[in-house]
Amino acid sequence: MKKIVLATLTSIFSLIVVAQEIKSPDGNLTLDFAVREKGSPGYKLTYKNKEVIQWSKLGFEIKGDHHPFDRDFEIVGTEQSQFDETWQPVWGEVKEIRNRYNQLFIRLKQKATDRELMIHFRLFNDGLGFRYEFPLQDSLIYFTLKEEKTEFALTSDHTAWWIPGDYDTQEYNYTKSRLSQVRYLSKDAVDYNVSQTPFSDTGLQTSLMMKSDDGVYINIHEAALIDYPCLHLDLDDKDFILTSHLNPDAQGDKGYLQAPCKTPWRTIIVSDDARDILASKLVLNLNDPCKIEDTSWIKPVKYVGVWWEMINGMSTWAYTDLPSVQLGITDYAETEPNGKHGACNENVRKYIDFAAAHGFDAVLVEGWNIGWEDWFNKSKDYVFDFLTPYPDFDMKALNQYAHMKGVKLMMHHETSGSTRNYERHMDAAYQFMVDNGYNAVKSGYVGNMLPRGEYHSSQWMVNHFLYAVTKAADYKIMVNAHESVRPTGLHRAYPNLLANEAARGTEYEAMAGNSVDHTTILPFTRLIGGPMDYTPGIFEMDMSVHNPENESKVSSTIARQLALYVTMYSPLQMAADYPEVYEKYMDAFRFIKKVAVDWDDTRILEAEPGDYVTIARKAKGTNNWFVGCTVDENGYTSKIDLTFLDAGKTYMATIYGDARDAHYKNNPKAYEIRKVAVTNKSQLSQKCVPGGGYAISIVEVDKSQLKGLKNYKPVGS
Ligand code: NOJ
Ligand code: CA
Repeated sequence: MKKIVLATLTSIFSLIVVAQEIKSPDGNLTLDFAVREKGSPGYKLTYKNKEVIQWSKLGFEIKGDHHPFDRDFEIVGTEQSQFDETWQPVWGEVKEIRNRYNQLFIRLKQKATDRELMIHFRLFNDGLGFRYEFPLQDSLIYFTLKEEKTEFALTSDHTAWWIPGDYDTQEYNYTKSRLSQVRYLSKDAVDYNVSQTPFSDTGLQTSLMMKSDDGVYINIHEAALIDYPCLHLDLDDKDFILTSHLNPDAQGDKGYLQAPCKTPWRTIIVSDDARDILASKLVLNLNDPCKIEDTSWIKPVKYVGVWWEMINGMSTWAYTDLPSVQLGITDYAETEPNGKHGACNENVRKYIDFAAAHGFDAVLVEGWNIGWEDWFNKSKDYVFDFLTPYPDFDMKALNQYAHMKGVKLMMHHETSGSTRNYERHMDAAYQFMVDNGYNAVKSGYVGNMLPRGEYHSSQWMVNHFLYAVTKAADYKIMVNAHESVRPTGLHRAYPNLLANEAARGTEYEAMAGNSVDHTTILPFTRLIGGPMDYTPGIFEMDMSVHNPENESKVSSTIARQLALYVTMYSPLQMAADYPEVYEKYMDAFRFIKKVAVDWDDTRILEAEPGDYVTIARKAKGTNNWFVGCTVDENGYTSKIDLTFLDAGKTYMATIYGDARDAHYKNNPKAYEIRKVAVTNKSQLSQKCVPGGGYAISIVEVDKSQLKGLKNYKPVGS
């Protein structure tokens, strides 16, 4: 690792300094810090001479405290330094990441109470990260936060893409509105089937994406959320000030701390080009380097699974139809099966055959273990033991069959939100996986939390989610947690955390539906913190074809489903539809077979939140590129330059686009595949219909391979 650390400048401890300023390495961003009226610490962020964040307060309210911890401070020390290193992620969008920032470290003292607080600012070219540190000190050791008082004072009534403040879930469609409209729209935005815990009419979740009228894009989120509650924001919609609102625990407390300790980083990514927001590596850079020494067992995964059929109601997770308590079941082998159990030997073998035939790494099997009859009506916390298969799932034989065919089964642990139950069984469950040849688990936390009153995003659960990831690493197991707290870049330190759900995924397309522009917003919001198991690749958009009782339709064309493998970055990608459906569209399916899941390079070609996202990525260790474009309900004509290709080389591009008459509503399955020769001088213009998009695979070719091809002459040459 190339590492240049240039520690410089002032260390003026014990000197009282009033204001401090640093600039980003490229000089575009300026961060000011000062202790202002009543001794309250504050900061301000300026981008290209325009204020992005006006003077904003910093500090805390500590439970039982007699002296508010956000005022009466003096600066007792400051230190400025520079940092520049380049590091290689275990997997990722690019081969190398540059971590370059100018840093300001502030030491504050509250004289009246003899307590100290430190604040660390890191100013990158793409934004700001800052966090608080509580040093070891006699006057503040064990304490409980009542609230963090960090402000983000915006300059005006920006446009925002937001989801309501909710302690339990991010499974929402986004609303686009002015900040001043949030209060009036939030009731409609809340999905009371998903959650009942919006914390206020003006509460918002991060990552919050905003755009000012003069075209500055601002994204607020957090990095390295460890042993602390999740950050939400509360909006003052008169002055447009966002204030931190930490996720409470069952008692309403906001975090138990013990000094010395640090908060997560608060992040503000800023640019006047929306593409920079998607290219930003700020959140990853603020996380710790990899903590796992041997990472050779951590590999990106492309998988299929016994899953979509349960989601749309064709088959069931459960083996019988009634809760076992009602039936008095103790032995499933003596119970009449319902005839619709998805995870049965025969069905699983079908998926294994399909995965092997088409080069997939793994087959997820949900509903393999006893307990599903009870899981949704849980009243006790011991629904699942994660060890006992249903009688029609032959764990040993199926794993042998899969391994013989070069495929792995992927474990599924639905915890039903019974977190202590999961922790009690965790070692046994992971050991059981190792013994049976599993190396990856999808976990889930559906429903209200047990212990009762905890929230999915409270400090207690934040700790649980990381505990599961570190425990899994001890067993060399990769993790994909659903219904988790939303990611904050922890996969840099723990790359066995391949992905999370923590947003509204494809599954909703088989239920209430997703907004048509959803996949043009997620990269700007949910994906800022880390990869999502979005489970794209649905080709049959009409659910009633499978299940007459399900009238849902997927709001997307087939071409756009292909694009999502590129635009929704994740080292874990599922081909979510059934083998039988893919058999009908093998030419389009070819893209899913070929698309990479790990990359050496990424170029954000076109991007506007809520409208379109076009991304090109270079497959790891190859000279092949893949391009994806997803667009909103209005359609869009995408125009891209292929300047990212090597000069002097010729490539074959296979374009999977919407047919002229395609439309997400009434003609979603109409696509066209065409091949053209391209070079780095080529320009492509591709029409995307409403709810549409396109995908391209670009492979370097020898000129002789182009003979006989209609468009043999490279486009643009
Ligand atoms: C919700 C998850 O998101 C979904 O993928 C899973 O199949 C169900 N829970 C059951 O665990
Ligand atoms: Ca879910």
